This record gives sequence, C-alpha cells and structure tokens, in this order.
Amino acid sequence: MEFTAQLHAYRERIEHGLDALVPSATTRPPRLHAAMRYSLAAGGKRLRPVLVLAAADLLGGKADALPAHSTGSGRAIDALPAAVAMECLHTYSLIHDDLPCMDNDDLRRGRATAHKQFDEATALLAGDALLTLAFQLIGRHYAGSPALCTALTREIADAAGSERLIGGQMEDLLAERKADATAAELEFIHLNKTAAMLSASLVTGGLCSGATEVQLATLRDAGRHLGLAFQIVDDILDATADTATLGKTAGKDAKAGKTTYVKLHGLDASRRHAREQSDAAKSTLARLPGGAPFLTTLVENMAKRSS
Ligand code: IPE
Ligand code: IPE
Ligand code: MG
Ligand code: MG
Ligand code: MG
Repeated sequence: MEFTAQLHAYRERIEHGLDALVPSATTRPPRLHAAMRYSLAAGGKRLRPVLVLAAADLLGGKADALPAHSTGSGRAIDALPAAVAMECLHTYSLIHDDLPCMDNDDLRRGRATAHKQFDEATALLAGDALLTLAFQLIGRHYAGSPALCTALTREIADAAGSERLIGGQMEDLLAERKADATAAELEFIHLNKTAAMLSASLVTGGLCSGATEVQLATLRDAGRHLGLAFQIVDDILDATADTATLGKTAGKDAKAGKTTYVKLHGLDASRRHAREQSDAAKSTLARLPGGAPFLTTLVENMAKRSS
C-alpha cells in the first residue's frame, strides 16, 4: 500500500481502537471519562501508535511464520491495544505538560486544554487515569502471553518513568530561565521527555511481532534519532509557526524562557541538526527488513512537518 493510504489506514485503526478500549464518556464518573475522551479525541498526529503498528507490521510477517518464542503460541499478537496504550500515555503527558504549574498552555490540538475546558483537578485526574489505563490495557490484552506482557510493561514503564519521560520533564522545567544551560543538558531533556516514548513505541511494536534482540536494538536506536529530530523540529515550530497551524500556542518557549534547541543553537543549526538526526534515523531503519520503507517515509515527513 502506498504511504499516505497506509498512514490513513493506521490512523483509522487507532481511532477505532481508542473508541473501543477507552471507557465511554458516560461511565461513572462521567466528568472524568468525558475529560479523558476530550483530550484523546482532539486528534493529533497519532505518531506513537502509528510507530507501534508500523513496527509490528514490519517485523510480523506471516502470522504462522512468527518464532514460537515470541508469543508462546507462534501466533501474531495484535499490537492495537499496545498502540492505544501508548497514545493514552502520550495524551496524559500532554494534559499534565499544559497545566498552569508546568507549561501553562491554553490550547492543545486545536482546542482548549483540558484544565481550561474542565478545571485543573479534573485535568490532573484525567491525566492520572490515562496513564493508569495504559497499563490496564497491557495487563488485560496481553495476559495470554505472559512473557510479552512482562516485556511490554517493562518497556513502557521504563520509558514513562522518573529516569526517562518524567526525568526529562523535570529537567525541562529546571532549565527554564537558566542562563548557563548546556547542549548536553538540553540533549538529556530531548532524549528523555520525547525520544524515550518514540523508542518505546517502536520497540513495543517489535515485541508484539516477536522481533529479535538485534531488531529491537535497531528499533530503539532509530527511535532515539527520530525523537531528537522530532523535538528539535517541535522547538523550531514553536519559534517559527503560527498558533492556528500548530493547534497549540506559538512562541511560548521564548516567553517562558525555556532552554530549547533554537535558543541554544539558533535556527540554522537547529534545522541542520534535525536533518542529521532524521538521516541517522533513516540509515538505522535501513537495517530492518526490506529497508522499512513506511517508517523511513514517516521519519522524512516528521522532519518536514508544519505542526
Ligand atoms: C507533542 O507531541 C509533545 C512533544 C513531544 C513535542 P506531538 O507533536 O506528537 O503531539 P500530537 O500528539 O500530534 O498532538
Ligand atoms: C514535550 O515538550 C512535552 C511532553 C513530553 C509531554 P513540549 O512542552 O515542548 O511539548 P509541547 O510543545 O507543549 O507540545
Ligand atoms: Mg513542556
Ligand atoms: Mg509544553
Ligand atoms: Mg514544544
């Protein structure tokens, strides 16, 4: 299938998966579930779940050709619940990232942020619930393959934990208005607040398809480069794009005195480094079966994106 049609198909599966696997908005307490669905339904690029599904497809091949050790049964394991889990986790991180005590943003995915649409306490709880739901989904849907269930739990928990996503978010806040922030400190922030989740998404897909250790390491490495490129572009867009295109407030980083790639390296070097990292992601992906054409084009598109 051609790239755009494949991307569309993945997004459709993800939307259906979200709708089927997230409690309905009328589930008690409805205010909480409505807030969870409000932030999820606002859309977004769905990059992380697309990475899960694409990596799973790339390494899955024919269901009956899977190595038996991968699932314990030799059957392909559906990566969709894991993809939905990653989007729930990502959306939780956005809800909390936007809170007044963090980046204090009013706009997300083209609509009012959760704390503006509801209130701060509801936004906090909706985030808590989405984070927890991610692990409920893994526990529920992969219980039949205990080794896979354990591997997914470890992978996702490590990426979301205090040494990765949350550690990156902590240092992002600590680096606000820091006059002497270094390139190494900024790399720590980007690697952890952003790249960790992209690596974990690719690895999650690989795990569902019984990828080999070498393939998993390659996926992790590709996610690292993609993550660095992705966050550099996010920093560039904050400085150069407009709010309507972004669906989130433009120019917020400079106002908040954030340590960003643009602030530390300037726009030209940022663009160059983003290209270098996306090229590194592509040459890493080239080691995967068939050269991973879908993922390679996805990386190119993410580097060229406008929102
Ligand atoms: C925003 O992520 C947070 C960053 C890591 C830059 P995305 O740019 O993937 O946001 P959505 O999911 O498309 O809204
Ligand atoms: C990434 O950083 C945030 C998360 C890891 C959730 P940003 O704070 O730059 O993300 P945006 O620009 O608000 O989407
Ligand atoms: Mg932030
Ligand atoms: Mg932010
Ligand atoms: Mg940003």
